[in-house]
Amino acid sequence: MGQTRLPFAHPMKLDHRTARRARKETRMEPLIWSESLSIGVKEIDKDHQHLIGLLNILIWSIEQKKEKSEVEEALGGLLSYTSWHFRHEERLMQTFDYGKFQKHKDEHMGLIDQAVALREAFATRGEEITPEIIEFLKSWLSHHILGTDMEMGHFLSAVISR
Ligand SMILES: [Fe+2]
Repeated sequence: MGQTRLPFAHPMKLDHRTARRARKETRMEPLIWSESLSIGVKEIDKDHQHLIGLLNILIWSIEQKKEKSEVEEALGGLLSYTSWHFRHEERLMQTFDYGKFQKHKDEHMGLIDQAVALREAFATRGEEITPEIIEFLKSWLSHHILGTDMEMGHFLSAVISR
């Protein structure tokens, strides 16, 4: 089976000044949950807040240059909660017969594949979790919540309150 390619697998070749500027611009800031990320379904919003909290623990452990085992634990915790949460959303979508279920599930599976590849790269090949990877995770999560989950939220909140 081929390895899943990460979108950030190849570091760009940069001169020193550009590299320094790029590093400054990719500081690992936490992701902050706000009402604008609410999809209108309380139980899913609660999951998302927890998920963001776990992502921030991972960011914090890297920023603080914690032991590899601690970073690995944070990554593992994030990954297992993410798969639990995706199944939670998928169960709700199936229960209420959501038309875009498969497309949404495919998006989930895409991220799980990439996250598993990331854990493998970190745990067994000793690759670093770079600011670019963190940016990728943050932007994947916020885009997914604001796009795909928001659309599901409109559907679910309408059928659940019926
Ligand atoms: Fe989702």
